[in-house]
Amino acid sequence: MRDLTPRQVVEELNRHIVGQDDAKRAVAIAVRNRWRRQQLSEEMRREVAPKNILMIGPTGVGKTEIARRLAKLTGAPFIKIEATKFTEVGYYGRDVESMVRELVENGITLVMEMERQEVEEDARRHTEDRLLDLLAPRPTSIDVGVDADDSAGRYERTREKMRAMLAGGELENRMVEVAIEQKAAPMILGGTGADQQMDFDFQGMLEKVLPKNVIQREMTVADARKVLFEQESEALINQEKVHARAIELAENLGMIFLDEIDKVVASESNRGADVSRQGVQRDLLPIVEGTTVQTRYGYVHTDHILFIAAGAFHSTQPSDLMPELQGRFPIRVELNDLTQEDFVRILTEPKGALTKQYRALMKTEGVEVEFTDDAAIALAKYAFQVNQTAQNIGARRLQTIMERLLEELSFEAPEMKMGRVEINAAYVHERLDEVTKDEDLSKFIL
Ligand SMILES: Nc1ncnc2c1ncn2[C@@H]1O[C@H](COP(=O)(O)OP(=O)(O)OP(=O)(O)O)[C@@H](O)[C@H]1O
Ligand SMILES: [Mg+2]
Repeated sequence: MRDLTPRQVVEELNRHIVGQDDAKRAVAIAVRNRWRRQQLSEEMRREVAPKNILMIGPTGVGKTEIARRLAKLTGAPFIKIEATKFTEVGYYGRDVESMVRELVENGITLVMEMERQEVEEDARRHTEDRLLDLLAPRPTSIDVGVDADDSAGRYERTREKMRAMLAGGELENRMVEVAIEQKAAPMILGGTGADQQMDFDFQGMLEKVLPKNVIQREMTVADARKVLFEQESEALINQEKVHARAIELAENLGMIFLDEIDKVVASESNRGADVSRQGVQRDLLPIVEGTTVQTRYGYVHTDHILFIAAGAFHSTQPSDLMPELQGRFPIRVELNDLTQEDFVRILTEPKGALTKQYRALMKTEGVEVEFTDDAAIALAKYAFQVNQTAQNIGARRLQTIMERLLEELSFEAPEMKMGRVEINAAYVHERLDEVTKDEDLSKFIL
């Protein structure tokens, strides 16, 4: 886990996301608060509940993007999930508790990664030993004749010679036979997603009960090394410990990003049509408040999991959420509509900015694409304009605009052998003027 200060979190986010400072600050503080809580005494720690966040803002301004980047950066269990994926308990579909299970799965992945690194050295050593066993099998007692000492000594010498050759990479293409365990095929009941909803480790249980199917497979030393390394790592890792650690991490540092929360709000006009949506809100309550969820790895207490919910709240308002649920999201941050200047920055500044992406893509075809400053300004202007006349889809508009701008180049690039293309304001105007002027046309194309 990285102990990032709020300032560091914001700085990291700044590399990918333009503006939205309030939202960045709020999530940065929330992340730091997890760390602070970890430093407290056991007694105090129990008292400190996370302050859940509700992010409100129009579509395409960076809500989901902030969550995505945050996930990468914290190194804590983190999942992002759409509230619309759930159905009320008792109805056909996924129930809300499954998000806690998913969080634990995420924790398991994290812990496994750490454990793998920890045992890597040992696993490598064991792997080499086992490869040697395969290349130069130990003499069995029958082979050992009268002169047992001598033959044992000879064997050790051969083995050391082999070890040197193996280390020198001379034996990579030699064929060896490796025993591989075949896992029992999953025979989960139908395709109901039941495996996700399973409260206990049914698959794991099956594997324990059913006889293991071991087959011998011939492969090169190079391939065998990978297989044996997997087997050795697995043997060195204590699964029970991994499960316990993952649950602990999920409980104390876990974060759940609940996207599209506004979509489970029934608006004035369609109330009634969406009973099950309201039901989802009701099901969410205990989880956000703190309850115990059974997972295949054990019980998980949700009291200290941090929830960040986000929604556009176009036709509805946060106050349309169930009152109890509103109360569970005390921190509200609003994300602003993006300005034309923001668009210019989004096009050019972030690490994965669109202009950088296209430049890299074209480079694979041997074409150097250069975007001039005035091209970015012109593009931003068109994007802003179309957002005003057609629907406002925020920064997503930049993608359609860019795609249109570079359609011809994308098609021709492999054959054009031009070496270098400069995209300036004139180029932009030439490609986009017509489509953006015609409102109907732009509705279809951009
Ligand atoms: N402030 C920003 N800085 C950089 N890129 C942005 C910003 N806002 C949006 N984008 C880009 O626009 C795209 C859509 O943004 P995002 O998915 O965050 O929208 P959203 O706010 O979650 O919208 P919705 O309410 O529709 O889910 C992303 O690919 C992202 O790269
Ligand atoms: Mg989103």
